[in-house]
Amino acid sequence: RPAPGERAVRGGFSFTPIAAVSDDVDAMTVPRGFSWHPIIRWGDPLFHDSPRFDPTQPDADAAERQFGYNNDYTDVIVTDRRGRKALLCCNHEYTNRQIMFPPTTTPEAEADVLRALMAAHGFSVVELERRGTRRPWRYVQGARLNRRITATTPFLLDGPAAGSALVQTAADPTGTRVHGTLGNCSGGTTPWGTVLSGEENFNGYFVADPAAPGSARYGLTDKPSSYGWEQVDDRFDATKAGYANEPHRFGWIVEIDPTDPRSTPRKHTAMGRFKHEGANVRVDDEGTVVAYMGDDERFDYLYKFVASKKFRSGKSAAARRHNLGLLSEGDLYVARFTGEQRPDNANLGTGRWLPLVRDGRSQVEGMSVEEVLVLTRLAADKVGATPMDRCEDVEPSLKTGKVYVVCTNNTDRGVKAGKPGPDAANPRAANKNGHIIELTEAGGRGDAETFEWDLFMVCGDEGQAGTYFAGWEGPVAPISCPDNIAFDSRDNLWISTDGQPGSIAKNDGLFRVPLAGRERGHLVQFLAVPVEAETCGPVIHDQDGSVFVAVQHPGEDGTWAEQNSFFPDYVSAGERPRRGEWRGPRPSVVQVVADR
Ligand code: FEO
Ligand code: CA
Ligand code: CA
Ligand code: CA
Repeated sequence: RPAPGERAVRGGFSFTPIAAVSDDVDAMTVPRGFSWHPIIRWGDPLFHDSPRFDPTQPDADAAERQFGYNNDYTDVIVTDRRGRKALLCCNHEYTNRQIMFPPTTTPEAEADVLRALMAAHGFSVVELERRGTRRPWRYVQGARLNRRITATTPFLLDGPAAGSALVQTAADPTGTRVHGTLGNCSGGTTPWGTVLSGEENFNGYFVADPAAPGSARYGLTDKPSSYGWEQVDDRFDATKAGYANEPHRFGWIVEIDPTDPRSTPRKHTAMGRFKHEGANVRVDDEGTVVAYMGDDERFDYLYKFVASKKFRSGKSAAARRHNLGLLSEGDLYVARFTGEQRPDNANLGTGRWLPLVRDGRSQVEGMSVEEVLVLTRLAADKVGATPMDRCEDVEPSLKTGKVYVVCTNNTDRGVKAGKPGPDAANPRAANKNGHIIELTEAGGRGDAETFEWDLFMVCGDEGQAGTYFAGWEGPVAPISCPDNIAFDSRDNLWISTDGQPGSIAKNDGLFRVPLAGRERGHLVQFLAVPVEAETCGPVIHDQDGSVFVAVQHPGEDGTWAEQNSFFPDYVSAGERPRRGEWRGPRPSVVQVVADR
């Protein structure tokens, strides 16, 4: 139903906004005149020989041949001129074992579950096809480019810290060959067609020496890990001989070439190590390549990486090879914001990018380049970066070059002893609803060392003290905990949320807001995801009348015996599942299309 007082919003993509959905509703809610379809679900077979999905029998070999769990970053890259073929690229961030698999009673069964969970992590590439540009996409089982990357797939570590003593282990004395990726949160697709993925909450997978350098700052402890993988794979216990550096081999930006299923994905040490949310690249007018990156932890920082080499355009093999090396060498900066809080929130502040590594040399006293890149949080602490309210997606508009920095929330600000209080760029104490900063590089240059910024949005329920919607004074949709963003072809910003249920008792959703013109700041809601789910992706193909979202962790507070969500294979009221049929939530990538 349209929200009271809302009319249909016209433009390249018109829809009647939905009203916020209460946080106990187990349904996808889309605008009138639109319908939703799951393109692919957890456990769907990717290859001709993929086993049938059967969560009652956890099996790593099966999971490696099936679509993984809890999709976060998602892109749909159209690959042919007629718009009928595409590549779906998708992260599998983490797992919710208590709703995926039955409780275990023997050590053998427990080991099977742990290995199956490792195989449900990582990344998928899946070919899509459709019959016409206004028809829904479907995935192609057994397609040539289909690929699964898991917590055990070989990766290459590259850049200045690769091979250093800080990343060597007994199993890999070269310090360059890492097995697997995990905690893959958001990401970005590069202008040269690869996908970047951020290794975020890697600390939860390890047991480590709490006294080791960086352990405290990165949240590594000697308690049993939350995932328990150390029970089946020694390298997840960094207190064991030879594995002290294994945690240093996670927490990177990963680059995957979805067009070559045999390519070895890489982890770029030049881009620093922290709880990477994602990375989004812009090429400026001079061909300078800049990647913006957030560290999603309360009071952590905003970073940018500027490649040493310029982008090479064209489709030649030489240009491609060149561009594939861009993120292996460059300068790393962290942001310091200055400015003043104004009563109407319409701040205009300035800021500075503080160099951590420049021209191959460390800019941080007492730390080598390798130390700065592996223990980046410690380096940024030393130079006086601005502690932020959890930077999630940080994405430049490719039309204007302005960068949108999504700060999801920080309930500790101004509350927790010894932690900073509000400042201009993070204006609220106990910030439970989050905000979005709009950043403009000096001269529009990717390698600028200074910038201007303003608060674009201070989120919350309408009328709540301190909320601000870029000066828009009409009604807006209530929004909290912004997380992932995307732009449509008209440069409207689309915002998905993670945490609304806990903070304003509404299901998480997807919102649209114009960045320019008379409607700047006029926020409306497009969809809501089912109970306990987070809205990820999003991908906006407005010219096709189509929106994609990854529905992550639906029904996450349920148990194997008592599931809270049945997304996406709902059974109608009164209908019973067939005997022996498993019923529970399956995280999925969903396409929302305008009805024809
Ligand atoms: Fe995995 Fe910062 O969200
Ligand atoms: Ca996120
Ligand atoms: Ca994004
Ligand atoms: Ca989040």
